[in-house]
Amino acid sequence: MIEIRNLSKSFTHSTGQIDILHNISLTIEKGQWYTILGPSGAGKTIFLGCIAGLLPPTTGEVLYDDIELYQLSDKARGNYRRKHIGFVYQNFKFLPHYSIVDNVILPFIHDEPKKTLYPKAITLLEQVGIHPELFERFPEDLSSEEKHRVAIARALLGNPSILICDEPTGNLNAESRNELLNLLSFYRAQGQTIIMVTRDEEAARLSDYTYKLIDKQLIKLK
Ligand SMILES: Nc1ncnc2c1ncn2[C@@H]1O[C@H](COP(=O)(O)OP(=O)(O)OP(=O)(O)O)[C@@H](O)[C@H]1O
Ligand SMILES: [Mg+2]
Repeated sequence: MIEIRNLSKSFTHSTGQIDILHNISLTIEKGQWYTILGPSGAGKTIFLGCIAGLLPPTTGEVLYDDIELYQLSDKARGNYRRKHIGFVYQNFKFLPHYSIVDNVILPFIHDEPKKTLYPKAITLLEQVGIHPELFERFPEDLSSEEKHRVAIARALLGNPSILICDEPTGNLNAESRNELLNLLSFYRAQGQTIIMVTRDEEAARLSDYTYKLIDKQLIKLK
């Protein structure tokens, strides 16, 4: 379970303070799918960064099974994240000069030998529907939908209990979007906890809980 308690996030610039999130509390139950809707610029990516241990909140707490993420040292937090949290970045963050399969294993090459990582990466790439012909290609050679699929495979490589997806169906046509949502639904059925943010209201239809981030606050819709 994840407890987000009174989380606020602001940035301070020479022009003054910009408040992005204000006093947000949310409990994430294991094995459930949460969708957070909100317009562009609402603070969805910032919120996910705070939940995932990537961006310290200005005030408030993020607890994973009673462990306060931001009380851990940077190193311990990094280890915790790699073990428990899979993150699908909005802009993928692929390394362009590495093959697809290398991109999938890269986050873990310091933790585990390549010879055990490769078979796991290949199993996951096949599971997310990437054709073996694409494994040695470079990220720029993939379609948008394929990039989303590879990003999901990479996020799942460490067998995390939580999958955090930032706009995992962005810029896709309706058919590709539905395929991607069905894929997330498959992992949800395997017991994965999913936290997804998106601008696309249609994408929320399969989730267990739906919220909207608007005016720095989280409003429950479903
Ligand atoms: N380092 C920063 N300093 C100041 N403002 C920032 C910083 N990072 C992000 N912002 C601002 O925070 C707001 C929320 O950004 P965020 O990327 O979380 O929006 P979003 O809801 O994910 O939007 P989109 O749907 O377009 O991805 C934006 O107005 C952005 O300009
Ligand atoms: Mg965003």
